[in-house]
Amino acid sequence: MVAETRLSPSDLIWPIFVTQGSRERLKSLPFVERVPLAEIGAAARIAGEAGIPCIALFPHGEPRSETAHTALSADNIMCRAIAECKTAAPHVGVLADVALDPYTSHGHDGLLARDGSVDNDATLDMLVAQALVQARAGADILAPSDMMDGRIGRIRAALEADGFHDRQIMAYAAKYASALYGPFREAVGSEGVLKGDKRGYQMDYANAAEALREVALDLAEGADTVMVKPGLAYLDILAAVRAEFRVPTFAYHTSGEAAMIEGAVMMGAMDRDKAILEILTAFKRAGAAGVLTYHALDAARLLAR
Ligand code: PBG
Repeated sequence: MVAETRLSPSDLIWPIFVTQGSRERLKSLPFVERVPLAEIGAAARIAGEAGIPCIALFPHGEPRSETAHTALSADNIMCRAIAECKTAAPHVGVLADVALDPYTSHGHDGLLARDGSVDNDATLDMLVAQALVQARAGADILAPSDMMDGRIGRIRAALEADGFHDRQIMAYAAKYASALYGPFREAVGSEGVLKGDKRGYQMDYANAAEALREVALDLAEGADTVMVKPGLAYLDILAAVRAEFRVPTFAYHTSGEAAMIEGAVMMGAMDRDKAILEILTAFKRAGAAGVLTYHALDAARLLAR
């Protein structure tokens, strides 16, 4: 009766990896499986039946290249998965990842310049084209996770020009260069591919004020909602963003964080169900409008009991 926050399935966004190949568990996060394209519609329906309002799609198994050209193909696995989901479960929102890392031969989120650094401005044209093919496939929310400067404004303008006035942009606004993305990189096949690190474009975890500047820029450029990522170690950032801007602020409970729970449970160190609900509720207490979490289905089912 006196609880200040309440977790509900409607707070959850479920990230799903869609693959060209067969169903396969992740080694580093075994409760998560890549879902074959033929089964992605069923996954969207399962989300809807559990009361989860939105799924986040990430691709696996596209050919990688220096130019990441598959990212722009209207019949790449992402676009086909988006269309499948919207047909199978029209009321479940589809959030599409805008970034080049599942498509580049070097695993970076952008194109490389001659000197090997990521070329921010050359990447923007790619991101705009990628967002457009995903919007045409039916994505409800475009979610740029690449951290290039200026991409929100460019994507917003392109969506407007193409008549997509009703699509949302969820900006990964404050995304840190983090050790907590490990299983994700296995999931999209970037593991072993990534050269160097992403500190040239993702944020320094020592910084908090910079996160507010990043969020302000993305909102000024036309983001509808913003995200802080990773989650649990960044609740201070989440609370500060929410307090400062009063816009729907989402948290990404990342793959490495999910693995922290699973690993601890495997060692008998904690109760899985309790840990999931406690941690997800903490995001809401800190001010999150919702949470992207690999435990979304588990949590929704626990909450329904
Ligand atoms: C890259 C991207 C990453 C995640 C989402 N999009 C990893 C990275 O920045 O290398 C991480 C998600 C997770 O760990 O669950 N565009």
